[in-house]
Amino acid sequence: MSTAVSSDRRPADVQPLVVMKDVGKTYGNVHALQGVHLEVYPGEVTCVLGDNGAGKSTLIKIMAGLHEHTGGVFEVGGVQRHLASPRAAQALGIATVYQDLALAPLMSVWRNFFMGNELRRGLFLDSRRMKRIADEELQKMGIHIGDLDRPVGGLSGGQKQCIAIARAIYFGAKVIILDEPTAALGVKQSGVVLRYIAKARDAGLGVVFITHNPHHAHLVGNHFLVLKLGRLVLDAHRDELTLDQLTAEMAGGQELDELQHELRGVEAGKTVDPDDPEVELSGPGKPQVSDG
Ligand SMILES: Nc1ncnc2c1ncn2[C@@H]1O[C@H](COP(=O)(O)OP(=O)(O)OP(=O)(O)O)[C@@H](O)[C@H]1O
Ligand SMILES: [Mg+2]
Repeated sequence: MSTAVSSDRRPADVQPLVVMKDVGKTYGNVHALQGVHLEVYPGEVTCVLGDNGAGKSTLIKIMAGLHEHTGGVFEVGGVQRHLASPRAAQALGIATVYQDLALAPLMSVWRNFFMGNELRRGLFLDSRRMKRIADEELQKMGIHIGDLDRPVGGLSGGQKQCIAIARAIYFGAKVIILDEPTAALGVKQSGVVLRYIAKARDAGLGVVFITHNPHHAHLVGNHFLVLKLGRLVLDAHRDELTLDQLTAEMAGGQELDELQHELRGVEAGKTVDPDDPEVELSGPGKPQVSDG
């Protein structure tokens, strides 16, 4: 698979597309994000990893214009911004592909490609031109769908993701944010999407790739951020980090060790009664082991 990532650092004169400095977000009393630093560079994939509730979606919602940050500085193209709407983000070239995608399943591939940006000839839709352009653009990115009149609902999850990404690129995105694009996909389809992320990167876009999967991140990522309870616990360039280190970080490192310690002595497959005094607990929690 052609996802090879150069380990070379970027030239010094390349400016970041998006910068966050000490950014925070509170929802009432909840500190969803605190003290986050992030830079998105053209031609690079910035991976954001973290467990459930870590703050990944909150982070991208700030970039995507869905939520305003409540602390710190957020810059796009060197200018400080508070984005009040997704439209404001799009106008600055920031496109977001959400997991549930916002493609219309009953509409054809080419109609989806141009949804909201339809080409017209006089009063009528210029379907021939839209179809031709959609075809060219998808081919250019190596996506082979065949009949573009097919409804999108019949395509695989990976193909749908790719159409959404191709559309964002065609309509001028400079930064593309992907929220867990491979989470619901099998190995093969994930490969399709990862190849496509690599293409977007190689086309010079700044890609922000949100994922739970360190293997997927490591295949295409240049830079890795790990969030935990709203704070950055890891911020490393590709050449500072191995896949094993990233995997250990995502698996919870010390927490996993503690869990292993806690579960020690429990026979595999045996149902544990947490109130059974025979079961020795060394940590504060109780083991969740059950065979049915
Ligand atoms: N609209 C909201 N109102 C109140 N709290 C929120 C809101 N959105 C998120 N949170 C809280 O902020 C924290 C971070 O949530 P966020 O959705 O950003 O996590 P995440 O890393 O995307 O998790 P997941 O992997 O489950 O999608 C959580 O504690 C969550 O409960
Ligand atoms: Mg989320």
